[in-house]
Amino acid sequence: MRILGISGSPHADGNTARAVRYALARVESDETRYIGLSGKTINPCIGCFSCAKSHRCVFDDDMGEVYEAMRWCDALVLGSPVYMGMVSGQTKALMDRCVLFRPSYERRPRLSGKIGCGIACGGFRNGGQETTLQNIHTFLLQQNFKVINDGFPYSHAGGTVVGETLEDQLGLQTIDRLMDNLREMARG
Ligand SMILES: Cc1cc2nc3c(=O)[nH]c(=O)nc-3n(C[C@H](O)[C@H](O)[C@H](O)COP(=O)(O)O)c2cc1C
Repeated sequence: MRILGISGSPHADGNTARAVRYALARVESDETRYIGLSGKTINPCIGCFSCAKSHRCVFDDDMGEVYEAMRWCDALVLGSPVYMGMVSGQTKALMDRCVLFRPSYERRPRLSGKIGCGIACGGFRNGGQETTLQNIHTFLLQQNFKVINDGFPYSHAGGTVVGETLEDQLGLQTIDRLMDNLREMARG
């Protein structure tokens, strides 16, 4: 299985980057790929809908690499820091630019049927990890992903991290379970 992990944080080696890389390490026998949005230029969507006709975005920026990787993968692990109880602006820009995968004249969005899941990293307990995961899940649903949770035994919303990722043992457990469930769901 080809698994893509994306960190939507402005920090190259921050908590979200560490959480997503930790998730990928859990499935290292699969083919994995990591993209961090730190330092990347991803312009916000301007709603021109050129992509609906041309299949291309008017912006020639770093989203090109993300488009290619999203087509490539069988499963997507999308991580975001919690910003004001929601996804970061970087993550949201990526999500909006994925309108290109939803051409209205085709029966299904082009990412249909892939597995998708989320990881949210916040500074505080109850800081908005669940609402951030809801943002991620809504995006994945709109792209017709098969959205999964963190699996047995708790089966809650996905990966939830508080504070320093590698010191948050419970948070790491939610990621372990998320990735185990991802492989299980991929097996069918
Ligand atoms: C603009 C901004 C807003 C934030 N809002 C929240 C918040 O609502 N809830 C929370 O728990 N943490 C919040 N934080 C803290 C970050 O989510 C936290 O530090 C996280 O670990 C950062 O991840 P990163 O290291 O991958 O960037 C905020 C941080 C910033 C910069």
